[in-house]
Parts: sequence; structure tokens; C-alpha cells
Amino acid sequence: MSNLSGQIALVTAAGQGIGRAVAERLMADGAEVHASDMNGAALEGAGFASSTAVDATDAAAVAAWIAPFDRIDTLVHAVGYVHQGTIEECSPADWRRSMSITLDSAYVVIAACVGRMRAHGGSVTTIASVASSTKGFPKRAAYGAAKGGVIGLTKACAADYLAERIRFNAVCPGTVDSPSLRERIGDLAQTMGSVEAAEKWFLDRQPAGRLGTPEEIAGMCAFLASHDARFITGQTINVDGGITI
Ligand SMILES: NC(=O)c1ccc[n+]([C@@H]2O[C@H](COP(=O)([O-])OP(=O)(O)OC[C@H]3O[C@@H](n4cnc5c(N)ncnc54)[C@H](O)[C@@H]3O)[C@@H](O)[C@H]2O)c1
Repeated sequence: MSNLSGQIALVTAAGQGIGRAVAERLMADGAEVHASDMNGAALEGAGFASSTAVDATDAAAVAAWIAPFDRIDTLVHAVGYVHQGTIEECSPADWRRSMSITLDSAYVVIAACVGRMRAHGGSVTTIASVASSTKGFPKRAAYGAAKGGVIGLTKACAADYLAERIRFNAVCPGTVDSPSLRERIGDLAQTMGSVEAAEKWFLDRQPAGRLGTPEEIAGMCAFLASHDARFITGQTINVDGGITI
């Protein structure tokens, strides 16, 4: 456990999967967690200090969400969208959607929050992916490009805000069992013939022989938000079960 007591933490995409596990972990470690998700209903009953329906690509909605906070200590931005396909299978609309949800949202949310960290320092963690500038994967053309952009943005911000003690790091998961992964397995099953074959396609990418859990990603995010990580900035941290060995 990390000691995050006294921290005000904002988490995007907290309705399910990794974002949800991050919000729950930061709360368990003592932070006052303010959660958002495009699907506000998914946040109901979770017990966060506040829960707000926010489309993270909508700058006005994001500005309204953060308006009440004079101070933000920690931001974890978990919004992302996986388009499955090669560049030829990626229509201009697929490409734009990928960039909008994954990369534009990071710009919108970080730009809105960083001024609230300036006076006292803070920590921003983006959820990127090993499928990015880190490593190429089949059928991840738009996704890999967008997540590579997230890593570049994270590193550039780390350089810009070093003197103001605002740390920026990108956590890069391997394949993690989440609701949207189950949807992707279902989609792939239609072309591969069975759910088992589609699951095997994903598992074969995992040297550890299993999928990651959202909680394993959340643990790294809690550490990065903590005082123990105060000398860590501008890093990509792979939590990937050995994909990048
Ligand atoms: N699951 C994986 O294998 C995996 C691997 C590497 C990286 N990631 C990244 O981790 C993050 C979370 O993925 P996941 O699979 O755990 O969750 P998920 O895809 O199952 O859930 C995503 C959540 O984001 C919300 N969301 C989508 N678009 C949004 C928007 N524009 N504004 C606000 N909320 C929005 C959805 O409502 C949903 O609650 C994503 O950035 C994803 O790219 C996931």
C-alpha cells in the first residue's frame, strides 16, 4: 500500500477496467478520489468523493469537471480506445476516432489540470500501452500511433514542468483482462471461428502465460502518485508480464 492520505486525486475512465481499479486503489490508499467516466451510470454506488459523467474529449465538459478544485495532487488519465486493424483496415473515421479518444483526451485533460498542480507540485500518470512507440503489435496501427503520442506528450510535459515539481509518467500495460478486452475477444472470435481461438491469440502475446489484472496496473499508479516515487518523472513503466523482456 502507498500512503496517499491528504491527496486530492482525479481519475478518468473510472467506470470499469483499469481506470476503475486505479480509482479504487487510490481511495484505499487514502486519497480523496474524484472519478469521471463518459458513462456516468457506471460510477454509481462506487463510493468515490465525487463521480461525474464527463466525455474526456470535450474540453468544456472537462473544464466544468475540474472547476471546483483549487488543488489537484494526482491525475490518472485512463481513457483510451482500441481499434483492431492494420493500416488498410483502418478507415479515416477509425483513425480520427482513435486519435480523438486516446490522444486528444490526454491533451484536453492534462491541459485542464496542470495549472491546479503548479503551486505545490503533483503527479500525472497516463495509461499508455506497450502497443505504442515501445513495441509493434499486429492489428494495432491506429492504437499504437495514438499511444505513442500519449507517451510523447507525457515525456514532453515531464520536461516542461520539472522545475514546478509536477511529475509525469506513462504506465504501459500488457494485455489486461477488462470489459473492453472481452469485447475485442468477441469481435475477433467472429473471424477466428471461436472465443477460445481469439483468447489464445491474446494469450500468445503474453510470455507470462496469463493476462494482467486491472489491480496490477493500479498498484503501479498508486506507487507513482506516492512520495516514494518523488524522483521518478518522464518514464514509461511497462507492467506487461514480460512482453518487453
Ligand atoms: N485492457 C488492456 O489490455 C489494455 C492494455 C494496455 C492499455 N490499456 C489502456 O488502459 C485504459 C483502460 O482500458 P481498459 O481496457 O481497462 O478499460 P475499458 O476499455 O474496458 O473501459 C474504458 C472506460 O473508458 C470510458 N471511456 C471511453 N471513452 C471515454 C471518453 N471519451 N471520455 C471518458 N470516458 C471514456 C468507458 O466508458 C469505459 O468505462 C485505456 O487507455 C486502454 O487503452 C488497456
